[in-house]
Amino acid sequence: MAKFFFFFFLCLCLLSWSITSITFTAAALSKKSIAELGEEEEDHINGRLKTYIIHVDSPKMVEKAEIFLEGLEKSMSKALTMISRSSSTTNNTNYYVVPRMIYSYKNILNGFAARLSEGQLSAIKANIPGFLHAIPDTIVPLATTHTPLFLGLLPAGGAASADMHGGGFSMIWNETVHFGRGVIVGVLDTGILPDHPSFSGDGMPSPPAKWKGRCDFNSSSSSISTCNNKIIGARTFLLGAEAKSSTTGEPRDTFGHGTHVASTAVGRFVGNASVLGNAAGTAVGMAPEAHLAVYKVCTERGCAGSDILAALDAAVEDGVDILSLSFGKADSKPFDQDPTAAGTLAAVEKGIFVCMAGGNDGPRESSISNEAPWMLTVGASTMDRTIRASVKLGNGAEYHGESLYQTSSQAAGASSQFLPLVYPGANGSSSAKFCSNNSSFVNVDVKGKIVVCDQGGGISRISKGEAVRAAGGAAFILASQEANAYTTLADAHVLLSSFVSFSDATKIKAYIASSSFPTAMIIPRGTLIGVGNIPAPTVAAFSSRGPSLQSKGILKPDIIGPGVNVLAGWPALGINDGDSNSPALMFNIISGTSMSTPHLSGIAALIKSAHPSWSPAMIRSALMTTAGNTNIAGQLIADEQLRWADLFSKGAGHVDPRRAINSPGLVYDIQPEDYIAYMCGLNYTDRQLAAVARRAVSCSSIKPIFDVELNYPSFSVEMGPSSTRKVSRTVTNVGQVQSTYKLEMVAPEGIEVDVSPVTLSFSRADQKLEYTVEFRRKSSTSTDNSAKKNKYAEGYLSWVSSDQLTIVRSAISITFIDTTQ
Ligand SMILES: *[C@@H]1O[C@H](CO)[C@@H](O)[C@H](O)[C@H]1NC(C)=O
Ligand SMILES: *[C@@H]1O[C@H](CO)[C@@H](O)[C@H](O)[C@H]1NC(C)=O
Ligand SMILES: *[C@@H]1O[C@H](CO)[C@@H](O)[C@H](O)[C@H]1NC(C)=O
Ligand SMILES: *[C@@H]1O[C@H](CO)[C@@H](O)[C@H](O)[C@H]1NC(C)=O
Ligand SMILES: *[C@@H]1O[C@H](CO)[C@@H](O)[C@H](O)[C@H]1NC(C)=O
Ligand SMILES: *[C@@H]1O[C@H](CO)[C@@H](O)[C@H](O)[C@H]1NC(C)=O
Ligand SMILES: *[C@@H]1O[C@H](CO)[C@@H](O)[C@H](O)[C@H]1NC(C)=O
Ligand SMILES: *[C@@H]1O[C@H](CO)[C@@H](O)[C@H](O)[C@H]1NC(C)=O
Repeated sequence: MAKFFFFFFLCLCLLSWSITSITFTAAALSKKSIAELGEEEEDHINGRLKTYIIHVDSPKMVEKAEIFLEGLEKSMSKALTMISRSSSTTNNTNYYVVPRMIYSYKNILNGFAARLSEGQLSAIKANIPGFLHAIPDTIVPLATTHTPLFLGLLPAGGAASADMHGGGFSMIWNETVHFGRGVIVGVLDTGILPDHPSFSGDGMPSPPAKWKGRCDFNSSSSSISTCNNKIIGARTFLLGAEAKSSTTGEPRDTFGHGTHVASTAVGRFVGNASVLGNAAGTAVGMAPEAHLAVYKVCTERGCAGSDILAALDAAVEDGVDILSLSFGKADSKPFDQDPTAAGTLAAVEKGIFVCMAGGNDGPRESSISNEAPWMLTVGASTMDRTIRASVKLGNGAEYHGESLYQTSSQAAGASSQFLPLVYPGANGSSSAKFCSNNSSFVNVDVKGKIVVCDQGGGISRISKGEAVRAAGGAAFILASQEANAYTTLADAHVLLSSFVSFSDATKIKAYIASSSFPTAMIIPRGTLIGVGNIPAPTVAAFSSRGPSLQSKGILKPDIIGPGVNVLAGWPALGINDGDSNSPALMFNIISGTSMSTPHLSGIAALIKSAHPSWSPAMIRSALMTTAGNTNIAGQLIADEQLRWADLFSKGAGHVDPRRAINSPGLVYDIQPEDYIAYMCGLNYTDRQLAAVARRAVSCSSIKPIFDVELNYPSFSVEMGPSSTRKVSRTVTNVGQVQSTYKLEMVAPEGIEVDVSPVTLSFSRADQKLEYTVEFRRKSSTSTDNSAKKNKYAEGYLSWVSSDQLTIVRSAISITFIDTTQ
């Protein structure tokens, strides 16, 4: 009976399709020559079909859509063969007019991705009863600053040592912490170099029995044809990005990003981490004994939503424990419209921890990407390692900048003496100011001089140096933009250089303007640990900022971790920015929230290894409530302007792996269904929710959770004039069985906070206790003026154990909604 109905349905829709669209297209083509075609028809001819991600309401409807599309494909191919026979032109048989299913998703959404014309999409909307919505596929960029940096130029013994030592924390592996043993980290990125020493399988245990993944390296083109006990899976999903039907290619990394990210998360100990024998040091990832599953979904251009979903679908089935996703874009979309948000919720429901880049669109307000509360959203901070190149001026002043270009015979010559110093931008030409190219210097003599160039102008930092070198300049000083202030990066320049802060650059320019014969020298000083210009960590200028646009009641980013000048594995390629003749690197230094994300996913793997039964929310809570607020000098963490970093830049603070693993004490857990109730609280419709939840949801039968009330390890509260807001939280005891915690409170300015109770006494493991927090706007008094001037205020709420050893801290962010910006 059901079968009969199904076939009837299918025939009907094929029929209706052929009556409308195919006949129309065939008629149109046979009557007109190519030149006469209208724009829409031309789109068909040119194969400019779009990829759509289509959500339907049940797996059964995915099957139906599949059959429907197959039918369409067949009848379209047939129609086109007829057209091509009867037509005088040869170009109208474009293959792509035929719609094509590229992915059918099983685990993370009820839906599929297909290449379709708009007409074909309408036909699907009309003919598939369970159709929910279609999202055009988009490319999300990788979250690096696109500045591959060259480690090989560092001087011998340069101690570019393991990045676990950076940012004021050292890792604490030992037999209890297990190095992440038994945990599977899935990395969605640009693939991997399988035979890199960071991914050696020697001494690694076999994958857990639950592992079901596969390994798609090509045995004829690769020295490694199969995976090992380190890389236990490797697959490619690039159909959406590449719009090709035939091959998806090998999961081999031909760009570098994926190898770098994977080795940061789980790379094994590699001694003498250098290619040229120059930079001796040990490179190692955060969880060196965790297994790695690689999903190649990104190219240099970014990662397509349809491919990301296909990889998430596979990763869930394969059995990963942690997902590390280093891409993101400041283009805030509701969660049902954002493939990554929808796909990762399904992963979290299966107990998988999802760690995502916050993006590199800072320091602009609300530039944060990946805002969903089921993800850990990671910002980037500096480390206490600097690769210094100092600038000494003729007047004796000295400024410390950074550069990876440290040694060469020319450099040695240039650094040994004072040279004339020139700022081509002094007279205002923007091409000259940004050192755009060789022709920027027509009116300025730069030969043999040290040239000051401003950052920006759409010109890459490396190209500026190339322009200076081409024009005969001896060296250059890169001046940070005002917005980037004190964030400087050590780049792989082609000549002696120093990247200085905006403030130092201003002083250097003032010296040039005031001196009749300005001179300077650049002094490479190599890699220095613990002597940065500013005590680490600081929030990197590029690290994206909150507040969140999709959900004001959730504070994002969640946390920051090392993301500036990060050393990790590289797939034996040269620097891709410029010099193609550069030697193949096995290690490289790059920057971005792409780099901080795998630090956090690796540390999450260590927690998962120690506590296999913990939910993703418990792991996130342990990371956030133990995060640090101070730098290695004991002062509050600063941002790129050297102001105290606010909550929208640092979230809970800087990751502290030792405390997160050893002594979280209490955790804030969230059940997966709470995220659905939370979306009801955000007024998503049942239809929108069905797409994300993969089942029928009726918000009217669910008690909604308003976003401030989600059991999140931080608070973000909007407060109108004389308003009050009461929320509750539940903590779970994961520390000492018998324990008592007392409240410690730093109330945000202008706000009274009442917490009840103020003591939490636990007598059992995993015992849950609830407390309530009431936020009250202080009445308008003269002392309130300062708070009124500000749009935001911040504070903290901490539960401190009686032995003072465990501090469970939550940030409180208040947004005053009556004040203007
Ligand atoms: C077919 O398309 C190609 C590439 O667009 C073009 O060079 C060629 O002239 C076209 N042929 C005809 C017959 O239009
Ligand atoms: C391993 O680390 C844990 C947590 O830091 C600590 O409690 C334990 O004593 C350490 N064990 C050894 C053998 O060092
Ligand atoms: C595998 O490699 C061989 C040799 O390089 C190549 O001919 C073949 O097309 C590759 N196969 C796939 C599926 O990439
Ligand atoms: C690193 O290089 C030094 C000198 O070449 C060598 O003695 C040492 O064994 C190497 N260490 C490793 C771990 O390869
Ligand atoms: C700027 O203009 C002044 C006066 O015309 C000239 O002497 C100087 O060389 C110029 N400087 C640069 C960097 O072009
Ligand atoms: C040099 O850069 C300027 C400014 O970016 C641009 O207008 C000009 O076309 C460039 N010239 C060359 C030769 O690339
Ligand atoms: C750059 O410009 C200078 C002066 O205009 C010229 O001498 C030099 O050959 C140019 N170099 C390149 C690589 O174009
Ligand atoms: C949801 O809708 C209700 C009723 O219209 C409104 O009061 C509330 O502010 C909305 N919530 C959000 C998060 O927009």
